[in-house]
Amino acid sequence: MDLEEAIRRRRMCRNFSDRPVAPEVVDRLLQRAVRAPSAGFSQGWSFLVLQVASEVERFWSAVADEAWRSDPNLPGLLRAPVVVVPLCSPEHYLQRYSEADKVGHGLTTAGAWAVPYWTVDIAFATMLLLLGVVEEGLGALFFGRDRTAHERLKTEFGVPDGWQPIGAVLVGWPAADWGPKGSSARARRPLSEIVHRGGW
Ligand SMILES: Cc1cc2nc3c(=O)[nH]c(=O)nc-3n(C[C@H](O)[C@H](O)[C@H](O)COP(=O)(O)O)c2cc1C
Repeated sequence: MDLEEAIRRRRMCRNFSDRPVAPEVVDRLLQRAVRAPSAGFSQGWSFLVLQVASEVERFWSAVADEAWRSDPNLPGLLRAPVVVVPLCSPEHYLQRYSEADKVGHGLTTAGAWAVPYWTVDIAFATMLLLLGVVEEGLGALFFGRDRTAHERLKTEFGVPDGWQPIGAVLVGWPAADWGPKGSSARARRPLSEIVHRGGW
């Protein structure tokens, strides 16, 4: 599959079949993800990978609150056999930008950063993972929860302090009826509205 096709075919999947995903496929997805660019090549990223049924159940117990129990998409989501939680560590960036070649930028405290590159980097890596999912013929949903759910998730899986989940990616084989739903069914904004050539 070429890049153009992978980009065009990538849509969020909210209805998975219960067909398992081979562990080596997940490994390939992760290998691709870490080809992402990274500020100062700090690579302050991690992936919590849950691909055993009991782990995935614990994930859902940690993140699915009452509001989710009534979400019509939930049964289709629960069938996804793999959950990848992308995390970032600001501290990696502060340490990297304290090294001799970077210290001059004045970015040794989190508050000094105009943009939190730790979030940018893990988002780039997650995007590569999502494109890899298309390449493998699989489906994925990236979604986020609130702070409380993220904290519960960290506690449940022993994530050390300093690591921040940016959300979670469900990975699995799409069910027959998986097409764009919810926000994904909205119209794409035209380039004419988005692009400002030569000035705003
Ligand atoms: C940061 C972020 C958070 C998202 N959170 C959710 C979510 O909580 N639930 C959900 O169903 N989709 C979520 N999505 C998926 C978006 O709804 C989806 O990407 C958007 O509607 C465009 O559709 P597409 O990805 O199928 O092209 C999220 C996407 C991003 C990038």
